[in-house]
Amino acid sequence: MIIDDAAAAGGEGAGRTFADPIPTALLDAPLEYILVDHARQRSVCAAFRGFIRQGYVDRAEADAVVTYLRRDVDLHHRDEEEDLFPSLLRRVLLEDDLGATLARLVADHRQSRTMIEAIIAVLARRAGPGPIRLGSAARKLLLAYAASEHHHLAAENGIVLAIARVRLTRGDLTAMSATMKDRHGAGA
Ligand SMILES: [Fe+2]
Ligand SMILES: [Fe+2]
Repeated sequence: MIIDDAAAAGGEGAGRTFADPIPTALLDAPLEYILVDHARQRSVCAAFRGFIRQGYVDRAEADAVVTYLRRDVDLHHRDEEEDLFPSLLRRVLLEDDLGATLARLVADHRQSRTMIEAIIAVLARRAGPGPIRLGSAARKLLLAYAASEHHHLAAENGIVLAIARVRLTRGDLTAMSATMKDRHGAGA
C-alpha cells in the first residue's frame, strides 16, 4: 500500500493509509476524526499518483480503493455537509466570511462524486486476473481527482477546521460526535 508522504511526515493520521479504518474512539473528538479522514484522502491521492507513474493498478489495490471510495468518501461528505458545515454556519461571525467557501466545498463534493463514479468504473472493470492497465483517459481522470482533492483538503484543513476549532462550542462538538457515531455505526 502506498503511504502518503505528508501524513508520513507526522501529525494526526501519520502513516495512515486509506485502507486503515479510523478508531471509533476518535469520534469523541469529531474535528480530529475529520482531520484524520483527510490524511486518508491524501493517501488515496498519493496512491493514484503512484498508479499513474506505473501505468497500471494491481487487482488487490484496485479493490481496496474501490471499497474506500464506495463507503468512506460518502460518509465523510455527510460528516461535513450534515454536521460540520451547518454547525459552523450557526457560529461563524460575519467577519469569518465563510458562507461562500462552504458552498464551494459542497459543490466540490458533488464534482468529486461524479469523478469517483468514473474512477470506480475504471478500477472495478473485470478483464481477467491481471493488473488493470491505465489508458491516457484513466490517467487524466486520476490526476484530475488528486489535483482537485489537494485544493479541497487545503481549504478544509487550513480554513474550515481552523475556524471550527475556535468557534465551535463544547456543546456543538458533543452534538456532532453523537450524530457522527450514529452515522458510522459506533453507537452513542
Ligand atoms: Fe473533508
Ligand atoms: Fe469536503
